[in-house]
Amino acid sequence: MKIAVAGAGYVGLVTAACFAEIGNNVICVDIDESKINHLNNGVIPIYEPGLDKLVAKNRKENRLEFSTDLKSSIKQSEVIFICVGTPPKDNGEADLSYVENVARMIAEAMDSYKVIVEKSTVPVETGEKVVKSIRAYNIHKVDFDVVSNPEFLREGSAVNDFMHPDRIVIGAESEKARETMKALYQPLNAKILFTDIKSAEIIKHASNSFLATKISFINAIANICELAGADVEKVAEGMGLDKRIGKSFLNAGIGYGGFCFPKDAEAFIKIAEKLGYDFRLLKATQEINNFQRKNFVEKIENALWIVKNKTIGILGLAFKPNTDDMRFAPSIDIINELQREGAKIKAYDPEAAGKAKSILNNIEYCTNPYDAAKEADALLILTEWDEFKTVDLNRIKSVMKHPLLIDGRNIFDPEDVKRLGFSYISMGRKDN
Ligand code: UGA
Repeated sequence: MKIAVAGAGYVGLVTAACFAEIGNNVICVDIDESKINHLNNGVIPIYEPGLDKLVAKNRKENRLEFSTDLKSSIKQSEVIFICVGTPPKDNGEADLSYVENVARMIAEAMDSYKVIVEKSTVPVETGEKVVKSIRAYNIHKVDFDVVSNPEFLREGSAVNDFMHPDRIVIGAESEKARETMKALYQPLNAKILFTDIKSAEIIKHASNSFLATKISFINAIANICELAGADVEKVAEGMGLDKRIGKSFLNAGIGYGGFCFPKDAEAFIKIAEKLGYDFRLLKATQEINNFQRKNFVEKIENALWIVKNKTIGILGLAFKPNTDDMRFAPSIDIINELQREGAKIKAYDPEAAGKAKSILNNIEYCTNPYDAAKEADALLILTEWDEFKTVDLNRIKSVMKHPLLIDGRNIFDPEDVKRLGFSYISMGRKDN
């Protein structure tokens, strides 16, 4: 099938490359000329495992191209994916101006039947507005369908998530659109759930909000475990063995970050509010998440007594492993607070240092974990990169001024690190 993908951001790039990989002819379009030039020279603007190879292969095989010409891409395509950004406005609502703009451009350019798919995360009822907008600007008076097909890709495993999804959600109102979408996804051999457009839109926000709530729930349990002298890792294991609960997203720590959960939870609260519902549960999820960062800084303060002039080494800056994404990373709030108190920060992250440099100031960026630990009064773990789990702890200890390890992601066994001579503090475990 011929496909156009509007937006060469995170979702757009992965969607375009993966649809090409499963045999379609894809044009990925963006208004950012320099980004398109880079992509046409083989430079991928984000770090996502496997994406560079996929882009290179499909460009070589002429199934994937990058362009700034939305109009001609629309004319050539049967299906058009809207993958533009929906960043948060100051009041927490999603800014839909990019979606509206693309919808209008599609309407003006299309000269034959098109399936227009909203893939960007949007509030419920956006589909209706997209339909209205396309009708208003449909100068060639052609037939079209709007479909909601939310993405559930995780950064760091997006290609694999696309190729092996738990489910594909398709909100569509016509048989023709349903059949087109079914044919498009057929090579993945995955479970497809057909719904109306509004339900599909809500599935996206509900899924992200539920996962965020699951994380806040286990973080609340972690705090209770600390007070009671129990071990949250064991509690999560015991809970997770119940198939109805499941073990994923029960890792206690410094809370969720990234560009999805914080923004989507905030937007969903606003959506509910507009519809007349006070989503108190989700507000509590946010509150607990914010508290986890403060709670972590308090642990550091308690351990160091005076933070001022202390050297604090940091392992991990990205909001989670296998990404260079720093957006809404817990590390930002934690580092800002420690710097405000006068700490000297040294940090190492395998991928995110480049992006961190434009957000965090006055940091000594290190090229390995041992340099970050050198002469440090405390070493913090803020992202659970695999590399940190296998670090030589004896070497770390030998270079630190004082062997204090404060682990915001519970990557070590408390007994093991204590046996090596570390003072060890983690989240929701007996060690504290
Ligand atoms: C999330 C969803 O998982 C995807 O399904 C969705 O498509 C995506 O948002 C989106 O809306 O675009 P992502 O933000 O890439 O994906 O990251 P996750 O792997 O879900 O992690 C989110 C945050 O939760 C991270 O900061 C992570 O450290 C934290 N987390 C996750 C925990 O603190 N504990 C856990 O048990 C799991």
